[in-house]
Amino acid sequence: LDPTAATGRRKHVDPPPPPRPSCNGTKRSLDGWTFNKTLSDLIRKNILRFLDPERDISILKGTLKPGDIIHYVFDRHSTTNISENLYRLLPTASPMRRQHHRRCAIVGNSGVLLNSSCGPEIDSHDFVIRCNLAPVEEYSRDVGRRTDLVTMNPSVVQRAFQDLLTEEWRERFLQRLRDLRGGVLWVPAFMAKGGEERVEWALRLILLHAVDVRMAFPSLRLLHAVRGYWLTNNVHIKRPTTGLLMYTMATRFCEEIHLYGFWPFALDPRGRPVKYHYYDALKYEYTSSSSPHAMPLEFRTLSSLHRQGALRLHTGICH
Ligand code: CTP
Repeated sequence: LDPTAATGRRKHVDPPPPPRPSCNGTKRSLDGWTFNKTLSDLIRKNILRFLDPERDISILKGTLKPGDIIHYVFDRHSTTNISENLYRLLPTASPMRRQHHRRCAIVGNSGVLLNSSCGPEIDSHDFVIRCNLAPVEEYSRDVGRRTDLVTMNPSVVQRAFQDLLTEEWRERFLQRLRDLRGGVLWVPAFMAKGGEERVEWALRLILLHAVDVRMAFPSLRLLHAVRGYWLTNNVHIKRPTTGLLMYTMATRFCEEIHLYGFWPFALDPRGRPVKYHYYDALKYEYTSSSSPHAMPLEFRTLSSLHRQGALRLHTGICH
């Protein structure tokens, strides 16, 4: 989360070959991928040993009060206070309480989605998760519109909505939230210091305009628990990306998980350039290794799970 919000550049790594479909089982899709329910159930069970996504998806109202001091997850020596606005927006019950869906889509933000025509396929899922309030309207042919849960790192307020400084940007932000039609807005407000004012501006607007969204603020233990799960599976990730966090949590609520827009490489399998994000000009960093994320490692892990049928990675064109 929020690795290089200030630099706007990403590390360049050569792309791996595209994920190969698995060849076992009977219910094969056209390209040979088969859902492995046994493995998917096992992964869910193992993840539940580390976290309960239904609970850890959000801090609940009863557990805090305005003024309480919170230590940031990644900056343990820095603190913030629970504001009145944040308190008012804390949910009283988990926004994902008793939710179970057969097919879920998690939409990452890679430019690999451009010209994919995956919009209708993504929207056909029972539950659609998106990251960092990525725009959908202008790209709906490729990314779809439906959004049941969307994340918002504090840096998004600055990067995508110009710190809500003008009426125009405030309106754009509000419109994006209204498009959620009561969906969940998941804000990791206590991960790293520096974003508290931005979160506060956003929450103030949401309250002022009584926007119909269900707020979620992840528990303080979520990040460590997710990292712990992957570590015990020999995937050494310092800071899981939003995309991996969403996959890890979605195993609790979803039977079959489909990932779109996960491609952390500057070139596609045929050597053509791919934008880092489908919607903005953020660039890959070719020299620095400043990012705390390990997206290529995460991608290899997800590819391996794809080959085993535990999830399905879509990196090509949808038919
Ligand atoms: N992603 C990807 N390949 C890319 C860009 C994004 O696989 N080229 C996936 C990652 O899992 C990422 C998710 O899509 O987490 C959402 O993208 P982004 O908004 O960039 O996610 P963050 O990890 O939150 O990045 P940042 O911390 O910079 O906000």
